[in-house]
Amino acid sequence: MTQKVKDWERYFVPPDLKAAKKRGKQDVEVLQFGEIPEDMRRIGEGKYYLIRTYGCQMNVHDSETIAGILEMMGYRPTESEEQASVILLNTCAIRENAEDKVFGEIGRLKPLKMENPDLVLGMCGCMSQEEGVVNRILRQHPYVDLIFGTHNIHRLPFLLKESLFSKEMVVEVWSKEGDIVENLPKVREDGLKAWVNIMYGCDKFCTYCIVPYTRGKERSRRPEDVLAEIRELARKGYQEVTLLGQNVNAYGKDFKDRHYTFAHLMDDVRKIGIPRVRFTTSHPRDFDDHLIEVLAKGGNLVEHIHLPVQSGSSEILKMMARKYTREQYLELVRKIKAAIPNVSLTTDIIVGFPGETDEQFEETLSLVREVEFDSAFTFIYSPREGTPAAKMKDDVPMEVKKERLMRLNQLQDEISRRKNEALRGQVVEVLVEGESKKDPNVLSGRTRTNKLVNFTGPKHLIGRFAHVRIDEPKTHTLKGVWVEEAYSQVGM
Ligand code: 5AD
Ligand code: SF4
Repeated sequence: MTQKVKDWERYFVPPDLKAAKKRGKQDVEVLQFGEIPEDMRRIGEGKYYLIRTYGCQMNVHDSETIAGILEMMGYRPTESEEQASVILLNTCAIRENAEDKVFGEIGRLKPLKMENPDLVLGMCGCMSQEEGVVNRILRQHPYVDLIFGTHNIHRLPFLLKESLFSKEMVVEVWSKEGDIVENLPKVREDGLKAWVNIMYGCDKFCTYCIVPYTRGKERSRRPEDVLAEIRELARKGYQEVTLLGQNVNAYGKDFKDRHYTFAHLMDDVRKIGIPRVRFTTSHPRDFDDHLIEVLAKGGNLVEHIHLPVQSGSSEILKMMARKYTREQYLELVRKIKAAIPNVSLTTDIIVGFPGETDEQFEETLSLVREVEFDSAFTFIYSPREGTPAAKMKDDVPMEVKKERLMRLNQLQDEISRRKNEALRGQVVEVLVEGESKKDPNVLSGRTRTNKLVNFTGPKHLIGRFAHVRIDEPKTHTLKGVWVEEAYSQVGM
């Protein structure tokens, strides 16, 4: 590695939530990941790794980086736990049930570790950034070999080597705000669709959310680095990229040397010859008119926007510190729909936030009715240690929360069904990803609006664009038949 590694011999650094909360003024350093030291390049020769990924696309993409680093060390991938010399759990901390799954998995892997003491069993990702989790592992699961966080993935070669030669658990979790590391190797999951980070971290501090603590402060990759990566993916034949960030609309706000926003970035990506460009996740507060104007140009910028609303009640939004009101959200939706008439909107909603009344929940239902989202991810509020909402009085019984979730899902299903029904008989453009999971005689892919389509057609369509006529719309998927082969209209 070419960057200075001041403290690489220190390998017991536990996480600290208070430190993770700090947002200082110091500049973000852009580090370059270069060669890994000679003695670490052959550590994995003849050995295998297995990564289990939980949570969001950011984690999926981090796993691609971790795989890239492990392969630079000589390791090869495997799906077999028995064959693996390294098993890493890349974890999610967003809700309690995500954490429960990981603790279950760590317990389940104990006998394997006992039988095979040479196995390196490691945990990384968002849970590693939580003090409470690391303490619990130290106490209850001391057979875990390695814990590292979300800011020091590039240090994996050193940490893995340390773990192989040490008898103690290796823990290194930086609770700093985070830097940017460029040139990290990546083993991308497929050759068709790629994730591209445009920024890291989150400064929004919504009161229920653990992400600003686990992912550090908002920091944007330089546009020249992002654009170069996308051009390279286009050259390699990728058909779709998804730009990733916890809050992509804050892109560029941290640049001191230029005025360059997310709208500018999208306008530049539009000129690259890659057929489809998506982005996730948007925050309504920073979604500006310039961005709407750029997205309305279409071309490779698809007409799908994921715009988490969280609640339809201005009072609850205030308690969540979302920094917009119901009316402001509805006004933004109105502007987006006016500029992009065939837009598909999806959202995230939390029910049962501390103190949420029946009336406030009804406001969420009425907002959902008014916007008519194509689909929604819906969650029961889950208290996260260290966040402000976890200290709020919560007098809503779990039964009531469950009932609210059910009512919300019922309503959303009706709307999704109705919206899909409107596509009956229409021909849509599908990027064909492969055989359907349930039936190998059926192909499956997605529309520009990200709807899953299962259809009958010849296998040579896999990896290409196809025109499919929808003849059986369902609530969450569409069924159809192949009409003719088609190539996507790339803007230029
Ligand atoms: N409880 C429930 N849902 C949450 N989310 C984030 N934090 C919590 C929490 N503590 C949801 C939000 C977010 C999505 C990724 O997860 O809706 O948009
Ligand atoms: Fe969490 Fe809010 Fe940041 Fe999204 S914008 S990651 S919900 S703090």
